[in-house]
Amino acid sequence: MPPGPIPFIDLKRLLAHIRTDVIADWTACLDNTEFVGGPRVAAVEKKLAAALSVPIVVSCANGTDALLVALQAIGVKRGMKVALPNLTFWATFEAVVQLGAVPVLVDIDPDDLHVSLEELRSAHDAHRFDALMLVHLFGWTSARLLEIRAFCKERDVAIVEDGAQCFGVEAFGKPVLAEAGVATLSFYPAKVVGGAMDGGAITMQSKEHETFLRSLCNHGRSDHYSYAHVGWNSRMGGLQAAFLLRVLEHVPAILESRRSAAAWYRERITSDATLAKRVRVFGPPAGIVENGYLNVLTIDGKRGQEVVDALKVKGVGAARTYPETMDVQPPAKAAGAIVHGDLRHSKAFCEKVVNLPLFYGIRDDERETALAALTSVL
Ligand SMILES: Cc1ncc(COP(=O)(O)O)c(C=O)c1O
Repeated sequence: MPPGPIPFIDLKRLLAHIRTDVIADWTACLDNTEFVGGPRVAAVEKKLAAALSVPIVVSCANGTDALLVALQAIGVKRGMKVALPNLTFWATFEAVVQLGAVPVLVDIDPDDLHVSLEELRSAHDAHRFDALMLVHLFGWTSARLLEIRAFCKERDVAIVEDGAQCFGVEAFGKPVLAEAGVATLSFYPAKVVGGAMDGGAITMQSKEHETFLRSLCNHGRSDHYSYAHVGWNSRMGGLQAAFLLRVLEHVPAILESRRSAAAWYRERITSDATLAKRVRVFGPPAGIVENGYLNVLTIDGKRGQEVVDALKVKGVGAARTYPETMDVQPPAKAAGAIVHGDLRHSKAFCEKVVNLPLFYGIRDDERETALAALTSVL
């Protein structure tokens, strides 16, 4: 029997495995009034640290807050310049602007789709930015990750790594954030490790950062009614932590399912003469193991939106991550964003990008149908 409409993402596939345990855990949270913080939040932080090979993880309310506090931890202040790729989620840009800092928009490498080291170099020569938002997108990271980190060290540029999409990505034999000074995670439900509501975390190497970030996420407290900083309220609760702990038990299966689906699409597209002629399917550079977060492709002679619309008519949910760059968003001008160069690679990619359905538990027949629909649309 052919499958019905194929969603872009179906979170129920994982829920089916954890539902009974989550309901029991949530009952225990209610019985213990474990609402904000608590032992399950501490347990999630520990589990995340082990999974990511980092010494310290501090949880918070969402991935955007994580960026806001992480930028403060590396010393970003009003008026400073912070470079970021022109291709990212808007939250990366927002966090910089919310702190009164000035975004410097830098183009991407057209092959790995991450910030271009050459453009970063020339942007620093031209604008002397103080910090970099190094974003790991699509389920992999830059081929030049280590060189970018080394370049920033050499130029005394502080880094926050936006790891909202990169749980499970490995770079050169280690979890990608293992050596990040300060990095962030998002547990938005559609992420590889998704929560039951918004959630986030910051990873770090030093105790000093931990003390500062725990305080910042809790009103800048030094004691219950004493304050060391003007902070923020960004805390995780027991219900979310209980859910995440159950999701974390399934990480090997989640990664296996997503990685094999991402590889399947790549294999099938590149080995099909008709598709291979017109479809470019992106993937992790050498040395990087993807987490299977997204299928990413562009099609010669087609705008991404027309492909997504045509797929929708055929019952296949597709998406466009991302349909527009940072520089064209109306608030970017008002925020005084500095545009470095012509940004042509990020703009060209956004016009064409298409993502086919890819989620934990996607079935072979669903992928076959999605690919058949794509073939018929070309
Ligand atoms: C690259 C990137 N940065 C930041 C965020 C913000 O995370 P959140 O939605 O948890 O605030 C997201 C995801 O939503 C993201 O994909």
